[in-house]
Amino acid sequence: MAGEVALSQALAYARDLKSAYETARAREQELIVANDRLRKGYQQSLQYAVDLKRTHRQLQRSIFQSLLGLANALEAKDAYTSGHSSRVSRFARELALAAGLSQTAAETIAQAGLLHDLGKISVPESILGKPGALTQEEWEIMRRHPVISAQIVAPLEFFDQGAIILRHHHERYDGSGYPDGLRADMIPLGARIVAIADVYDALTSERPYRARVGHAEAVRYLREQAGRTLDDDLVGLFLELFGGVGAVRNGKPQHGTSERIV
Ligand SMILES: [Fe+2]
Repeated sequence: MAGEVALSQALAYARDLKSAYETARAREQELIVANDRLRKGYQQSLQYAVDLKRTHRQLQRSIFQSLLGLANALEAKDAYTSGHSSRVSRFARELALAAGLSQTAAETIAQAGLLHDLGKISVPESILGKPGALTQEEWEIMRRHPVISAQIVAPLEFFDQGAIILRHHHERYDGSGYPDGLRADMIPLGARIVAIADVYDALTSERPYRARVGHAEAVRYLREQAGRTLDDDLVGLFLELFGGVGAVRNGKPQHGTSERIV
């Protein structure tokens, strides 16, 4: 009798255990399903974030392309500066690579070369095209263009290094430049590179306020300014790249460069 009771209790325990086990299995399955849903939801939100980031970058690239178009349009309407930025860009890229910078950094510097004078959009044509010397007031307006160039591109997160170059492309190695009077290595490297390309191309281009000079005269001027207004090491590299090629442009060398170069 006692044996039958014990057997009956054991069977009841076994049934309870089986039931508890099945309940636990069912919960486990539910948890697996819920976990799977969570994982899929997480992956989807990650994908949304990636898509959003991509769209954001595409939008920024589109804005950048529009700014390039604007810079080109500004140059194209002025016979004196037509093609200047693309030549500065090419010189700057090659100089950056010769200085040992990465392709990415050189590309940013080249892009800065394309956009460096975008801020001149704020300078009246009567000043830009003035044949004679600028008045103090006109200089004040002209000297704002690097800061305005930087402000125009400031919303482009991927071009933050480029914005810095735009701001400082008229700094001088001896601290006599603008807008911040930075000197020597305090001037961002990309800005020192663009400055040399800018000066060389401006010198060898016709401007309303002075005649262009020949390649040899421009090389002489760069040598003279090395260590003064321009980074001497970079001028040395620039001249290794472009100094011995002979006249980059056709044109009769002319002497007597004015202080206003770019
Ligand atoms: Fe400039």
